[in-house]
Amino acid sequence: MSSVNVLLYSKRFNVSKFRQVSQLLSRGRYSTAPKASLVFSNEKSNDSQINTQNTHITFNNKKVGYSKRALSSSNGVGTSGTRSTVIQLLNNISTKREVEQYLKYFTSVSQQQFAVIKVGGAIISDNLQELASCLAFLYHVGLYPIVLHGTGPQVNGRLEAQGIEPDYIDGIRITDEHTMAVVRECFLEQNLKLVTALEQLGVRARPITSGVFTANYLDKDKYNLVGDITKVNKDAIEASIKAGALPILTSLAETPAGQMLNVNADVAAGELARVFEPLKIVYLNEKGGIINGETGERISMINLDEEYEELLKQSWVKYGTKLKIKEIKELLDYLPRSSSVAIINVQDLQKELFTDSGAGTMIRRGYKLIKRSSLEEFPSSDSLRVALQRDPDVASNKLSAATYLRELENSNFVSYSDEPLEALAIVKTDEKIPKLDKFLCTSSAWLNNVTDNVFSTLKRDFKALQWVVSEDDGNIAWHFDKSQGSYLKDGKVLFWYGVNDLNTISELIGDFTRTTTASANGPSGVFAAGQSKRSYSTVQRTAPKFEVTNKEKSRVALIGARGYTGRNLVALINQHPYFEISHVSSRELKGQKLADYDKAEIIYDNLQLEDITKLESENAVDVWIMALPNNVSEKFIGAVQQGKGNSKIIDLSADHRFVSEKEWAYGLPEINNRESIINAKQISNPGCYATGSQLSIAPLLKYVDGLPTVFGVSGYSGAGAKPSPKNDIKVLSDNLIPYALTNHIHEREISTRLGHEIAFIPHVGQWFQGIALTVSIPIKKGSIESSEQVQEIYKKFYEGETLVHIINDIPSVKDISGTHGVVIGGFKLNDTKDRVVVCGTIDNLLKGAATQCLQNMNLAMGYGEYDGIPKDKIIC
Ligand SMILES: *[C@@H]1O[C@H](CO)[C@@H](O)[C@H](O)[C@H]1NC(C)=O
Ligand SMILES: *[C@@H]1O[C@H](CO)[C@@H](O)[C@H](O)[C@H]1NC(C)=O
Ligand SMILES: *[C@@H]1O[C@H](CO)[C@@H](O)[C@H](O)[C@H]1NC(C)=O
Ligand SMILES: *[C@@H]1O[C@H](CO)[C@@H](O)[C@H](O)[C@H]1NC(C)=O
Repeated sequence: MSSVNVLLYSKRFNVSKFRQVSQLLSRGRYSTAPKASLVFSNEKSNDSQINTQNTHITFNNKKVGYSKRALSSSNGVGTSGTRSTVIQLLNNISTKREVEQYLKYFTSVSQQQFAVIKVGGAIISDNLQELASCLAFLYHVGLYPIVLHGTGPQVNGRLEAQGIEPDYIDGIRITDEHTMAVVRECFLEQNLKLVTALEQLGVRARPITSGVFTANYLDKDKYNLVGDITKVNKDAIEASIKAGALPILTSLAETPAGQMLNVNADVAAGELARVFEPLKIVYLNEKGGIINGETGERISMINLDEEYEELLKQSWVKYGTKLKIKEIKELLDYLPRSSSVAIINVQDLQKELFTDSGAGTMIRRGYKLIKRSSLEEFPSSDSLRVALQRDPDVASNKLSAATYLRELENSNFVSYSDEPLEALAIVKTDEKIPKLDKFLCTSSAWLNNVTDNVFSTLKRDFKALQWVVSEDDGNIAWHFDKSQGSYLKDGKVLFWYGVNDLNTISELIGDFTRTTTASANGPSGVFAAGQSKRSYSTVQRTAPKFEVTNKEKSRVALIGARGYTGRNLVALINQHPYFEISHVSSRELKGQKLADYDKAEIIYDNLQLEDITKLESENAVDVWIMALPNNVSEKFIGAVQQGKGNSKIIDLSADHRFVSEKEWAYGLPEINNRESIINAKQISNPGCYATGSQLSIAPLLKYVDGLPTVFGVSGYSGAGAKPSPKNDIKVLSDNLIPYALTNHIHEREISTRLGHEIAFIPHVGQWFQGIALTVSIPIKKGSIESSEQVQEIYKKFYEGETLVHIINDIPSVKDISGTHGVVIGGFKLNDTKDRVVVCGTIDNLLKGAATQCLQNMNLAMGYGEYDGIPKDKIIC
C-alpha cells in the first residue's frame, strides 16, 4: 500500500466515521489520490458515506485553492458549522493510530485551546508569505491558533544602525528608555505586517498589541524596562476568536500603572500557554529547531525528565537557547504531561500540527519507565490506589483496591509505570504464559505514546504475554495491533503474543473462557479483573437487536455454486428482499442457466482470477460467497483482496475457521459476537455439526468438568454430492455408518471455538438432510440441581434468539429437516448430579450452512439478521 493516508477532521466524529476512515486506509482506496489534496465533505451529508466527489481541491504545500463550496462551509466563522468535516489527505501522516490520535485531539477542545504559536521575529522578515499561508490554511479549516510574535532581529538591526550595541544578560535584553521606544516601534510594525499579509489572503486577523500581559519589573536595576508577567488577560483574545479573527499578539506588557515593559517573546508565549493549556505549543524559528552547538545537528527530541540537567551543563547551551529551554521546562512542569513544545520552521507547521513525525525539535517531559516487582517499591500505596481507580472493576466496587493489592502481595508480579503512574502495567508471572493483568492508562498517557513505550518494554522483557480487554474498549484497535492472536467471548477479548503452539493457545483460550464473567455488558473500560469467582449464577443474555442500517440492494457473487449449500443459498437469495445474484461461477456448469432463481436470468460463468480482481476493483460485487471445497478458496480470496474494493467475503469452507477473529470473523451469531460479524470484511461460516454442537454445549460451559462427548448423526447430504459410500443409498439402507472416530475437523472446530476440549463421534444415517446430536456433558458435581434447572439455563441463555428453540422433549431430526433453526431439548441430569445429557437437532444444509450464511450476509450488509429466512419454516 502506498503511504497516502487520511486525516479526517470532524467536529462530530464518531466511531462509524473512524471505521470508514480505517477501511479507506486499509483498502487503499486513495492510493492513486494526488499528493496532498483536500477533500471537504459536507457535515450534513449522509453519515454512512464519505462523499469524496464532493469538493476536491489540490494544493501544493503553500497555496491552498478553495472552491466556493468549501469556503462557504468553513466561512461561517465562529459558528459550530465552522468546523465542518474535513478530510485531509496528507502524504506524511504515518499511521492509523496517528489519525485516531488527532481526531481525538482536535475534536475534544474549544477553539482557543487548539494551539499557541510563537513566531520568531526573523520569520516575519524572511518567510512572511509562508507563515501567512499556513495560518490561512488553519483559519480556513476553522482552527484558530493564538499567534504571538517577537521582533528581536528587527530591534537589533535598528539599534546597530544607530551605532548602539544590543545588550543582554542571560538572554534577556536590557531595555532602557531608548531601546524600549525602538522595541515598541518594531513590534507595531511587524504586527501590522503580519496582520496585513493575512488579510490579503482573506483571513480576518486582529492586532492585539497591548492589554494582554500585566507585569511587574523583573529586576529594574539589572534589566530596566523588562517585565515579569503576573497576569494574562484572556478577554481580548477570546473576543477576537469569537468574532472569527485570528488574534495576533506582541509580547509587550504593562505594569498595573500602565508603564510599558518588554518581555521576551518565548517567555510571553509560555505564559499564554499556561493560561490556555493548548493542545499544541509551537515555537517557529528560522533554524527549525534547537541545534546542538557542538555537532551542528538538529536535536529532534528532548525528554526533559531525563535530559534537562545534562543539557544545561552543555557549553553551547547559553543565552537565548538556555532561556528558551528553561522557560519551556517551567512551562511543561506546570502543564499536563500531555503537553509538549515543538520548535520548528514555518514550512513544517502543518506537518507539526497534523502529524506526529514533527520535523524540528520536540520538547516534552518524557516518560522514564520504572520497573518494580514488589509493593514496597512504590513511593506510596496511595498513588497505586489512585491508578487502580482506572480499573472498571475497582471503579464500580466489584473489586476493592485493597483486595487486589493483597492479591498482588501474594503473587509474583512485575510492574511498569512512568513516574506519575499515568501508565501502569502489572504483569503476573505465575502463569505459564505471563499475564498482563492490569494495564491502566490515563488518556494523556494514550495520547503521548507512553502506552507504546510501556508495551515495547513488555515485549522486550516477556517473550510471550496474554491479556484480556473489554471489546468496547476505546483502544481495542491498538490491542489488535499489538497482539498476534485474539479470541473474543462474552464481550471480552483475550489477546496474546509469542504463543505459537496450538496446544498452549487452546489452553489459554480454555482458561479464558472459564474465567470470563457473565457480565458481558460490564462497564466499558480497560481491563477485566483476572479471575472473577462469580460463576454458577445463571447466565442471562438477551439477543442484542441491531438496527437495520441498509435498505439498498446488494449484489452477490457465488464462487463454486454447485453443492447442496449453494443450491439452498440460491433459493434463499431468490426470496430475499435485498440480495441479488450478480455472478455464479463454476467451471463445470459454465454456460448453463442458474436453476431455482427467477429474479433474473443468470448464466454460470467460469470466472478467472483476473475477472474476480477486476470485478472487485470496480466494486461490482458486494458479497463474495466462497462455496468451494476445503483448501481451494485461497487463490480466489487472494484475487478479491487484490481488487481492494469494498465487498465482504464469506467462506463456507473450513479454511478460515481457525484463524484469528481479527482476520476472519467466525459467523456463529448466537454465540460469537454479532458486532464483530457486522464489522468484519471476511467471515468464516461455521461447520454444520460444529454449529449444532456449540449451540448445544455453550450454555453449560461454566459448569463443565471433564470431556463432553457429542454423538452426532447426519443425513447423507452431509457427505456431499460427490458419490461415496457415505452417500450411497444402498450402503446406508437399514444402516448407520460411523466415521472419523477421532480428529474430525469439526471436533477441532468445536473445541477451539468453545475454548474447551470435546470429543466428537460422527455418523451418517439413511435420511437426506438433518443432524441429530446427543451430547453428554460431565459437570462439576452439584453445580446444577435438577433437569429442570438445566433447561432453565438454556432458556435464559438463548432468550430472544429467533433461531434457537429450547423444548422439554427430545427433539426429532425428522422435524428439523427443511427448517432454519436449531432445536435443543431432552435435558437430563444424572442421579449423582455430575453429568448432563442434551439433544440437539439442526438442518445441516440450512442453519448448518446456507441459512447461517444468509444470517452473516445480512449482518455484514446491515440488513435485518433474519431477512429472507422464511418465517413459516422456522421450527417452534
Ligand atoms: C512528505 O515528506 C517528504 C520527505 O519526508 C517530503 O519530501 C515531502 O515534501 C513531504 N510532503 C508534505 C506534503 O509535507
Ligand atoms: C511510540 O513509541 C514507540 C516505542 O517507543 C515508537 O516505536 C513509536 O515510533 C512511537 N510513536 C510515536 C508516534 O511517537
Ligand atoms: C488442506 O491441506 C492441508 C495441507 O495440504 C492438509 O493437511 C489438510 O488436511 C487439508 N485440509 C482439508 C480440510 O482438506
Ligand atoms: C453420572 O455421571 C458421572 C459422569 O459420567 C458418572 O461418574 C456417575 O457415575 C453418574 N452417576 C450415575 C448415578 O449414573
